[in-house]
Amino acid sequence: MTLQIKSFDEYKEVYKRSVEDPEGFWAEQASSFQWRKKWDKVLDWNFSEPNVNWFVGGKMNITENCLDRHLEERGDQVAILFEPNDPNEPAKEFTYKQLHAEVCKAANALRANGIEKGDRVCFYMPMVPELAIAVLACARIGAIHSVVFAGFSAQALADRINDASCKMVICSDYNNRGTKHIPVKKIVDDAMALGCDSIETILVHKNTGDSIEMVGGRDKWWHDEVEGQSTTCEAEEMDSEDMLFILYTSGSTGKPKGVVHTCGGYMVYTAFSFKNVFQYEEGDIYWCTADIGWITGHSYIVYGPLLAGATTVMFEGVPTYPDAGRFWQVCDKLKVNQFYTAPTAIRALMAQGDEWVEKYDLSSIKVLGSVGEPINEEAWEWYYDKVGKGNAPIVDTWWQTETGGIMISGLGSHSPMKPAHAGYPLPGIQPCLMDADGNELDGNDIEGLLCVKFPWPSMLRTTYGDHERCRLTYFSHFENKYFTGDGARRDADGMYRIIGRVDDVINVSGHRMGTAEVENAINEHPLVVESAVVGYPHDIKGQGIYAYVITSDPVDDEDVFRKELLKVVTKEIGPIAKPDKIQVVTGLPKTRSGKIMRRILRKVASGDTSNLGDTSTLLNPEIVEAIKSGALG
Ligand code: PRX
Repeated sequence: MTLQIKSFDEYKEVYKRSVEDPEGFWAEQASSFQWRKKWDKVLDWNFSEPNVNWFVGGKMNITENCLDRHLEERGDQVAILFEPNDPNEPAKEFTYKQLHAEVCKAANALRANGIEKGDRVCFYMPMVPELAIAVLACARIGAIHSVVFAGFSAQALADRINDASCKMVICSDYNNRGTKHIPVKKIVDDAMALGCDSIETILVHKNTGDSIEMVGGRDKWWHDEVEGQSTTCEAEEMDSEDMLFILYTSGSTGKPKGVVHTCGGYMVYTAFSFKNVFQYEEGDIYWCTADIGWITGHSYIVYGPLLAGATTVMFEGVPTYPDAGRFWQVCDKLKVNQFYTAPTAIRALMAQGDEWVEKYDLSSIKVLGSVGEPINEEAWEWYYDKVGKGNAPIVDTWWQTETGGIMISGLGSHSPMKPAHAGYPLPGIQPCLMDADGNELDGNDIEGLLCVKFPWPSMLRTTYGDHERCRLTYFSHFENKYFTGDGARRDADGMYRIIGRVDDVINVSGHRMGTAEVENAINEHPLVVESAVVGYPHDIKGQGIYAYVITSDPVDDEDVFRKELLKVVTKEIGPIAKPDKIQVVTGLPKTRSGKIMRRILRKVASGDTSNLGDTSTLLNPEIVEAIKSGALG
């Protein structure tokens, strides 16, 4: 049984043990799983290459631990509870037995289509049960899944397919989300037209049944391939350090990188963190509203909950359809015990008025979770008072695609709570704060750059196809430390408060984006000479996107031009990257070495032009006044 901490005193005791004897601690946690062969050594690591290996020599398959292991004890318990977009359609249930059978059938279908251990399979699917089933089917046969959020454009999808040389795409015909009807397969076809030579097969799940084009020899229906397959499938034996999945995420430079997670450590850590943060108890109904296209969905809709034998809810829809009470209606209907969502959703619902939440009972809720961005105090209080009715603790979970699992958070009601503070590190996690010169900051009541100084089981191992990029991005800033890219404060009580990114990454509605990525997209417009993108505070989204654009010729109609730019960005990345504000400028503030001084642009974008600091070192100080006077409020 995975250890479940039940008091703050126990947390302190366990934390101490986990730091004094990490190998002993994690060996204990790992021993509750099924290993085909036990590990020879718990941990082997250095952060200089980096080269991190957990449960070295151990052999296992994560799906045997998510599914087979539970069959005897909880075969008839619901594993996945699917709530469709349309509130009038009934929820669909998959017991552990049924899920096991479906995963085996899908795994056999993948094998029949030539997918073998180590092959990469790309997913471009809405939140339907088949997505979870197919992801697990990949893991069952040792194929590496790369799930691409279905809001990304054909171009972004093609880039990700090509970066990992995926052999197959699994998609749906269409997707119904809220009132939107999205032609998912058509977007995959568009990606193929951009050139995805590695793709041999496209498996299409019939979701809405509306007509689509199927390309002979390449496109196959999911149901044709899966139905009739055997409901048993021998799981591939995986090394603890074999790749489990790739997930693309944005950084401050260049194209998104494929973060690589491996089997053994990811399994141990997602299960451990799930049970402790959410304090999941036998029989509880747990709901995380994220999309499986992001890490939160991987770790805390699929793997963590299933490893823990939980009932995990999968929701196809959006928080505001058919109205702003949908989340709460579903919580009451399904008697949800743990509810996990993002601050941006909380703020959006808060803005719709209290009546939407007040009419629901919500007494089943025991723990509320927040993830993806800093939660402001007002949203925190609203979540606590209106959703939790003052009875449920909020766990503000700080973590990243790269960390694989929750790093800093309360453990249900067992930790002290402070609005907007993530709190204390989980057992086994050793965060530290650094100054810019590379000194570790001791003591409390200080602010610095957030790093982690000891490996944890679910940390990233590499960035796909480019290990040097992994080293440079995360392990080169500070010797022997993983650098998160976030700034944080450790308060007088030793609790962490995440301040936000210190690099050129912005967080828009909980979606992580590189400013360079958005700039590259904007620069595709023929009139654009140069652009600079920054984030600015946004009431609902947390951060909005502000773009400064230089054009080669004067723009006749700025409205038309802005619309064209939005179209270009939607085409290159997807609608989530559309700038909220676009200001046409004649120049950008640059240092003598030609570097854009983003500090000034950020201040102007935030509407605060009172003190722009020293601009005398600029090559073109006069441009600042022009930018200020044209700023969009
Ligand atoms: O800046 C931090 C913010 O989200 C970043 C990671 O984004 P991503 O890899 O997309 O993963 C999001 C879901 C785990 C972090 O570097 N972030 C995440 N959680 C929090 C947060 N900021 C403040 N508080 C949080 N709880």
